[in-house]
Amino acid sequence: MKKNLVVLSGAGMSAESGISTFRDAGGLWEQYPVAQVASIEGYMRNPELVTNFYNERRRQLQEVVPNEGHRGVAALEQWYNVTVITQNVDNLHERAGSSHVIHLHGELMKACSSRDPYDPRYIRALRPDEDIHMGEKAGDGSQLRPFIVWFGEAVPEIETAVGYVQQADIFVIIGTSLNVYPAAGLLSYVPRRAEVFLIDPKPVDTHSSHSVHVIRKGASEGVRELIQILEKGEL
Ligand code: APR
Repeated sequence: MKKNLVVLSGAGMSAESGISTFRDAGGLWEQYPVAQVASIEGYMRNPELVTNFYNERRRQLQEVVPNEGHRGVAALEQWYNVTVITQNVDNLHERAGSSHVIHLHGELMKACSSRDPYDPRYIRALRPDEDIHMGEKAGDGSQLRPFIVWFGEAVPEIETAVGYVQQADIFVIIGTSLNVYPAAGLLSYVPRRAEVFLIDPKPVDTHSSHSVHVIRKGASEGVRELIQILEKGEL
């Protein structure tokens, strides 16, 4: 039987594809005020500005492709039951071939109701070139909004994610500063017996006593090294 391998990814996973991280120097939160474009209060204050910010991110997504790290994670499915839990709103894991991806913070390629963002009846896929416009309605008659989990909102997918993390034999953290909860707390649900790897070019505080095999590299090189280590342990 295949072992369960769970990946927790963050913005660093997509950095080598050309998508900016949030908290690094030159990251998105240096260019845009996070309280304005990534909080529910910011959206209530200026829905058009926030909607346009995500329209722009969606257009940018069409110009980038998955990197070797995404492809390596997808390749792990040959040997493991892989669940990818991502904080990223891009679709690069899926485009690289990962078949089971849980998006904790929503998805750029979807739109939803602004009355009840997680009502599945009103979540719909957007075409690659489709913008969300002011005045455009969701199925419940409310303003259509980006399907993004903003600061100040619940993270409903965390329950599902915890269920997979609790069954992990191998847990791999890639490219996240572990600053944002509840995602950052997922490591506390990893069974003691599980092996934990962390791939990041910079030191990351895991806030955990679980022993961690740190691979101090970028996502592409780091995932390559991870596969070599797993192969030595005969996967
Ligand atoms: N490969 C791997 N990791 C990298 C790379 C790379 N090439 N480049 C940078 N990193 C690492 C950084 O060292 C950092 O630890 O990626 C991490 C990015 O951290 P953040 O910018 O804080 O992004 P993330 O942890 O995903 O943010 C979490 O916060 O802003 C909100 O909702 C947003 O989902 C996001 C959440």
